[in-house]
Amino acid sequence: MLTIALPKGRLGDTVYQALQKAGYGIPAMDAIGRRLVLEDEERSIRYLLVKPMDVAVYVQYGAADVGVAGKDILEEKKADVFEMLDLGLGRCHMAVAAPLHFQENYSRKLKVATKFETIARAYYARRGREAEFIHLNGSIELAPVLGLSDVIVDIVETGTTLKENHLEVIDRFMEISARFIVNRASYRFHQDRIDTLIKRLEEVINL
Ligand code: PRP
Repeated sequence: MLTIALPKGRLGDTVYQALQKAGYGIPAMDAIGRRLVLEDEERSIRYLLVKPMDVAVYVQYGAADVGVAGKDILEEKKADVFEMLDLGLGRCHMAVAAPLHFQENYSRKLKVATKFETIARAYYARRGREAEFIHLNGSIELAPVLGLSDVIVDIVETGTTLKENHLEVIDRFMEISARFIVNRASYRFHQDRIDTLIKRLEEVINL
């Protein structure tokens, strides 16, 4: 049995479509309900549906053999996995954003709200800028609007959320897309099956 961890949500939907095109249709996907594990007995594949942030954890610890995760999550979790293929799906970027006409005060610590604390810390450490990090789990754009932070470090896709909350990008610093990842030990055990899966996915995304 090969276990594949897939992210629930926006990216997940795109990834399911790619897998289906590659001949790995998920059985009863339309009638999935609240189930978190789906088995394709014919192909001996099991699908786990997990939070995008957790895909790398499942794969790193071997609870899943392979998975699909955004580059942002691999960086944030410092995941120790093989990154085998850039699927080119779910393209977006990581950016620092602030209220329109924001003037930075260098005489004090910068307050940064983010869901990506590791990435944000590394970003400001590289710049030698002292900062305080406020960890939020979503709706990050609210933080500067309410004065909870000066800036945010967050994902920008279309830019609509920033625009509608009167924020703008100050620095776009990391390009993001979905990556096919593999557990190090699983690759040794299932190399042929994993290579075939990657090859088929590669064909589909290059169409
Ligand atoms: C992400 C991100 C931004 C938004 C960007 O949030 O954190 O808020 O998408 O997309 P846009 O540039 O197309 O507007 P998500 O929808 O994942 O929800 P969250 O607020 O729970 O993080």
